[in-house]
Amino acid sequence: MKTKVFNIKEIDEEGLKHIEESARVIRSGGLVAFPTETVYGLGADALNSRAVEKIYIAKDRPSDNPLIVHIADMEDLRRIASLKQKDIAVLAKNFWPGPLTMVLPKKATVPSVTTGGLDTVAVRMPKNEVALELIRKAGCPIAAPSANLSGRPSPTRGEHVVEDLFGRVDIIISGDDCQIGIESTVLDMTGPTPIILRPGIVTPEQIEDVIGKKINIDQANLLEHNDGENQFTARSPGMKYTHYAPRAEMIIVKGDKADVEQEIKKIAEREVGCGRKVGLIELGNKTHEEAAHDFFARLRDLDDEGVDLILASALDQEDSVGFALMNRMLKAAGYNIIRV
Ligand code: TXA
Ligand code: MG
Repeated sequence: MKTKVFNIKEIDEEGLKHIEESARVIRSGGLVAFPTETVYGLGADALNSRAVEKIYIAKDRPSDNPLIVHIADMEDLRRIASLKQKDIAVLAKNFWPGPLTMVLPKKATVPSVTTGGLDTVAVRMPKNEVALELIRKAGCPIAAPSANLSGRPSPTRGEHVVEDLFGRVDIIISGDDCQIGIESTVLDMTGPTPIILRPGIVTPEQIEDVIGKKINIDQANLLEHNDGENQFTARSPGMKYTHYAPRAEMIIVKGDKADVEQEIKKIAEREVGCGRKVGLIELGNKTHEEAAHDFFARLRDLDDEGVDLILASALDQEDSVGFALMNRMLKAAGYNIIRV
């Protein structure tokens, strides 16, 4: 397939022309990758089952892994989901546009391929002007998983999308690097108590503050010892697949700071001695937010450098951003963790 790449840094006259062309492609059932504030998405008309099927093929994605539907205004939301719970509107008002995805009872307008056969639909309003303008111009909600090949690290720069999807999609909109760098918080709103299915930058505490009640975290899916496969019935189907995997083997070392540093040094020396190329992922002076912003790009860079083994120190998970990033690190490492 011929892929067009549009560089859109701002929505000037040319940018707008490119967004309009992209919107026409979405409307006619094609695929367009676009930037959001979290990671790049690979979009199709969420209400057109043929178009959505193409997403699964382009990404090599298992078809029981449901997609997030992106909207630009509350009118779109009413078309696709039932909004009986009052907390939904409150959360939307406080966090949208932004990195919070809500799982809601779906309406019949949403075809079952979009939701992987579930009777719920995951929805968010991205905080990115190019994405919002694309959705508005397309005139339909846009289903979009992260725009990587299934199993590869999520793309946070236009060039990552080109690397994975050139030749597989109609248009790639290459915009700014994603500000956040890890995917949205996924919150199940279908039961009496909201449940975090995937941790992200929007924290449980922020959600609790806004709705004034306690929420749950889907611990079974997010614990460290979970090996990522077959151990549980995944509430969020995407959580059961190995994800974000760099080509290199990855090990996370957990323990007191000094012990961790010593262990990493020991393993690195041993492996280098065996002729293997070793790469490190270190927090250094970065905040957890900064580390999250860089994480997926770093995995791709280390792969490009031909590293065989990636060593990373575990993060302090007391704060929610550390918890969210550690969740991505564990998946990248296939839950390969050493405690010292
Ligand atoms: O930040 C993001 O959320 C990015 C950008 C592009 O918006 N999208 C993204 O999509 O990360 P994806 O497909 O890589 O991850 C979607 C996650 C998966 O874990 C999936 O299983 C879960 O959301 N999900 C989608 N629909 C669901 C549903 N109806 N019930 C439970 N989980 C759902
Ligand atoms: Mg993904």
